[in-house]
Amino acid sequence: MRTLLIAGNWKMNMGPKETADFFAQLDDAAQKEITGVEAAVCPPFASLSSAFSSRKAGSAVKIGAQNVHFEDNGAYTGEISTTMLNELGCDFVILGHSERREYFSEDDAIINKKVKKALADGITPIVCVGEVLSERKENRHFDVVKEQIAGSLAGLSEADVKKIVIAYEPVWAIGTGETASPEQAQEMHAFIRKELVGLVGQSTADTVRILYGGSMKPGNADELLRQPDVDGGLIGGASLKPSDFSQLVSIAAGQE
Ligand code: 13P
Repeated sequence: MRTLLIAGNWKMNMGPKETADFFAQLDDAAQKEITGVEAAVCPPFASLSSAFSSRKAGSAVKIGAQNVHFEDNGAYTGEISTTMLNELGCDFVILGHSERREYFSEDDAIINKKVKKALADGITPIVCVGEVLSERKENRHFDVVKEQIAGSLAGLSEADVKKIVIAYEPVWAIGTGETASPEQAQEMHAFIRKELVGLVGQSTADTVRILYGGSMKPGNADELLRQPDVDGGLIGGASLKPSDFSQLVSIAAGQE
């Protein structure tokens, strides 16, 4: 019912040359012969042009950005607009990543503006939510995620919600080698879907893909992706290696 999405978040890694090398090394199975699964990589802004030009002809790997501003254009030094991402051909934009929340003071209100802007201009937002370790220890993780969902998706129509992708990334599992167990992931993903049902009803909520992110790699992806409400992965470290990315795509394709 939902096509799995394997999306690489390259963070502040991979310059234009490394990006070209990545696509040169990525095998055809993960690039041209993908069936039953969607794949994307999100390089840093400086490497987007390289990604578009070095992707093999006929490649099905989509390309996304890691952030965007919510205004059309103007005096916003250091920022990038949806018009620019559209001109390049970006399909996705990651919004509200925990690193943006933590290091760049993005809150749900800012993320909400960005989500609306991306949707208005036809770019699919991958909206990230997730609790930090202390919140999980204090058993507040459901409340935290509930608030993030409500805040970042505030005011979206049912049609808008249908177009978004959500990524659940427990912050304690990002780059730490520690992964949420498949049961923990499923529990939270089901909770997020229930929140979506409250916002837009069951039939629309059932169409929204909810990705898991946090130390996903070829060795643990199968079990995570088997969970009924885990509809793909947002992958950091493992997405930088063409062979790991390729394996993740084929593990997802094997879930059909
Ligand atoms: P890692 O896969 O490196 O843990 O990163 C996850 C992440 O933050 C993806 O957005």
